[in-house]
Amino acid sequence: MTEPQFDIHLDENEWAPQLRNDVLTGLTSAPKTLPPKWFYDDRGSDLFDQITRLPEYYPTEAERQILLARAVEIAEATGADTLIELGSGTSDKTRALLDAFTATGQLKRFVPFDVSEQTLIDAAKYIDDEYPDLSIHGVVGDFERHLAELPKGGRRVVVFLGGTIGNFAPKQRADFLAQIVATLEAGDSFLLGSDLVKDHDRLVAAYDDSQGVTAEFNKNVLEVVNRHLDADFDPTTFDHVAIYDAENDWIEMRLRSRVDQTVHVADLDLDVTFVAGEEMRTEISAKFTRDRLTAELADAGLELTNWWTDEAGDYAVSLSTRR
Ligand code: SAH
Ligand code: AVI
Repeated sequence: MTEPQFDIHLDENEWAPQLRNDVLTGLTSAPKTLPPKWFYDDRGSDLFDQITRLPEYYPTEAERQILLARAVEIAEATGADTLIELGSGTSDKTRALLDAFTATGQLKRFVPFDVSEQTLIDAAKYIDDEYPDLSIHGVVGDFERHLAELPKGGRRVVVFLGGTIGNFAPKQRADFLAQIVATLEAGDSFLLGSDLVKDHDRLVAAYDDSQGVTAEFNKNVLEVVNRHLDADFDPTTFDHVAIYDAENDWIEMRLRSRVDQTVHVADLDLDVTFVAGEEMRTEISAKFTRDRLTAELADAGLELTNWWTDEAGDYAVSLSTRR
């Protein structure tokens, strides 16, 4: 048994200018926006973990159901000895895959990859304890910028779970898939979890839960900006909003200012004015159909080879290879 190894591609010198740039661009746009990757400080990661246990938030259990039912098939279809997980978080559901891949004796290496350093380190250590024969190589990075840094060699399956693909805007998603294709070598494959289009009321309830955990998660991005850019957002003056945009087939999370106010972002020397009722977009979460996803994968140069859904047909896991 060897200790987990970590590559850090995102230390503070790296992400601080990114945050400044994202916040400056987002808060001076009309309408205002903040990108979702900044939700995931330690508290945000913990709040997301709580979301996955909410009765209204069906994607986690639907995906777990598929992984538990199909993990052996996935292990055989990929033949992978290296499992790379992008946006791995706590890697909780991933254990279904690790169990099946280790049972066949094929898996040698697990590579969790996440922007949230402490969550990644904690998850890697737990997995190292549970799977002592696996070599663990954690990577702290941004999957929009650091895919070229993924460890090479062996036969790899790149796994992207949770429906996080839905958090990209369409252009970002196409760029991301193109980078995945560029990263895959002969014999590698791409396992993707994606949430599916369904009844709009269920979708809205999943993003506006009765306990208010998603509201806390949404407002946490203001705390991140306050802490790192010396801003004075008062989260209690914003309401959480979740709407379904049926034209684009995505959930949009927003923060709506309750009052006319000016927020000062000291590190950017920026004053940002909100009028009462003004909404700032903090996340989109796109929902897919099989046809749409197959077409987007094909546009990027990927061929969908397998498609599995949970019993209710709420969620899909697909496997693709380079064409
Ligand atoms: N895969 C887990 C977690 C999903 S939450 C699950 O299925 O439950 C989304 C995860 O992606 C978080 O852990 C977050 O820290 C990570 N993440 C968000 N944006 C990222 C980015 N740009 N680069 C790398 N990781 C990112
Ligand atoms: C991580 N991602 C797929 C989640 C989602 O469902 O879009 C983030 C989330 N936002 C609100 N609830 C959960």
